[in-house]
Amino acid sequence: MRTSIASVSLAFLLLGVDALPGAGKHHAVDPKDFIKVDGLRLKDSKGLHYLTGLNYWACMNLAASPSQGGNLSRLLTELDQMAAKGVNHLRIMASSEGAPTPQPFRMAPALMDAPGKYNEEVFKGLDVCLDEMSKRGMRATMTLNDEWQWSGGFAQYINWATNRTIPYPPSWNMTKAPQRAIPGTGWGDYSSTADGAHTYDEFTNFANEIYTNEQAEAWYKDHIRTVMSRTNTVNGRKYNEDATIMTWQLANEPQVAGAGDESDTLYPWIERISGYIRSLTASQLISVGLESKQGEDVFKRVHSIANVSYSTAHLWVQNWGIYDMYDSSAEGLATAQAYARAFVANTSAWARDVGKPVFLEEFGMARDNWENKDKEYPYLSSANTTHKDAYFGTIIGAVVADFKAGGAYVGTCPWAYGGIWRPETQHMNEFGMVWAGDPPHESPGWYDLYDTDKAMDIVADQQKNVAKWLNKHGGY
Ligand SMILES: *[C@@H]1O[C@H](CO)[C@@H](O)[C@H](O)[C@H]1NC(C)=O
Ligand SMILES: *[C@@H]1O[C@H](CO)[C@@H](O)[C@H](O)[C@H]1NC(C)=O
Ligand SMILES: *[C@@H]1O[C@H](CO)[C@@H](O)[C@H](O)[C@H]1NC(C)=O
Ligand SMILES: *[C@@H]1O[C@H](CO)[C@@H](O)[C@H](O)[C@H]1NC(C)=O
Ligand SMILES: *[C@@H]1O[C@H](CO)[C@@H](O)[C@H](O)[C@H]1NC(C)=O
Ligand SMILES: *[C@@H]1O[C@H](CO)[C@@H](O)[C@H](O)[C@H]1NC(C)=O
Repeated sequence: MRTSIASVSLAFLLLGVDALPGAGKHHAVDPKDFIKVDGLRLKDSKGLHYLTGLNYWACMNLAASPSQGGNLSRLLTELDQMAAKGVNHLRIMASSEGAPTPQPFRMAPALMDAPGKYNEEVFKGLDVCLDEMSKRGMRATMTLNDEWQWSGGFAQYINWATNRTIPYPPSWNMTKAPQRAIPGTGWGDYSSTADGAHTYDEFTNFANEIYTNEQAEAWYKDHIRTVMSRTNTVNGRKYNEDATIMTWQLANEPQVAGAGDESDTLYPWIERISGYIRSLTASQLISVGLESKQGEDVFKRVHSIANVSYSTAHLWVQNWGIYDMYDSSAEGLATAQAYARAFVANTSAWARDVGKPVFLEEFGMARDNWENKDKEYPYLSSANTTHKDAYFGTIIGAVVADFKAGGAYVGTCPWAYGGIWRPETQHMNEFGMVWAGDPPHESPGWYDLYDTDKAMDIVADQQKNVAKWLNKHGGY
């Protein structure tokens, strides 16, 4: 049960923040209390604001009506679970593109079926999601586009603008062999060149045409204006005047179009789009969604852009070849931990040079999947999480230490909350979706954080640790 506002306020005075029960720790978001950037810090009216975040990209779809594949009871259960762990920020999609006919490897149904043509039921899902978050004291990063195929994104805009077929890279196909006995329950495999899959370079070259395609940019700006000027059908708030929305994010992981030198078309695109977003809201923040894996120069060039409010960083040790989920050795883990410490130190230093905060808004590690190697599926939830827990302790610990020491880090946001979903009990809905924490182009169960996972306690301990510190240092 959630505690009433009045009893929370009283308990807060009497006991201090740490003594409060579960979800009641968080006041509802005051829709006028915007998060502001102050030097290397984020602040609200009460003082310093640290982000205990989680990725929860499917929020609008889970919150949509059952006819659109939504599941409100699951959504509310999971929001309560996250609130009980002290989560105060969710990074969610505020975009997804595709035709009403099935599109491979992506969220369905899409928010936008064709340029300017919306699925109002999914849009209402976004309204519900934001309203329920707001009640639980959670603010949002609203991601407006995507480099990758799992929400449509850049490639879908280019397909609409040019009529050329999307050259999909290898993506998880739930209906490929091996299949389980009950239809619609998986497992599947990555598509291969035999299925028509293209290289990642072919895909990103195609997707990155968005930086220079005028028609695609016009449609993308139309989407930005549509979502930012929407009035929430649940609570009547205008999106661009609601402090529940902390940040508008240009895209998930936009990549450099070339070598990332000064001529790269990524930079003027960020300048134009961030300026456009700024013209539509005075009070909310703007971030790019950059991974920051391309090193110091790209990091600084992107985050120095005037209308970008703060920096972002994503860290993927397995995807970048630093960690192997089948390697049970202590050395494998130690290498990943050392890399994470160096990555946090580097990005903090670069952000300090730029003079803006940095938010670690994606990272993850697989379960101890060497235990699953000879089983029916490599991502079974029954595997232990010894490496993942140690890694989460290291990386979240590094960010918290940097924050307390006055570094540029302002919070963490692991990838991604799978809540009560499990691969063992998954069943595709009529739109082909299982809504794991992993998006539809990746193997379900790879990076999920389940409600019962120890990693969620590490997230919660971070929040308590920081709350205690903020109580002493001017914040809550
Ligand atoms: C919705 O979520 C609940 C758990 O809250 C689950 O029991 C139920 O099966 C889900 N319904 C559908 C249609 O997936
Ligand atoms: C793409 O196809 C549509 C519908 O057939 C057409 O209206 C449009 O002009 C075509 N665009 C290009 C760039 O060929
Ligand atoms: C997924 O796999 C099935 C079974 O092999 C195949 O028929 C289908 O074309 C694949 N889908 C895509 C988009 O590759
Ligand atoms: C930032 O955005 C505003 C509003 O669109 C615009 O007037 C301004 O020129 C932009 N600043 C820069 C440096 O591009
Ligand atoms: C950190 O920066 C140093 C110096 O630029 C570089 O050598 C190192 O590879 C970087 N490490 C990470 C993990 O980013
Ligand atoms: C998890 O670790 C425990 C303790 O080492 C072990 O007994 C158990 O078999 C492991 N689970 C799996 C699925 O291997």
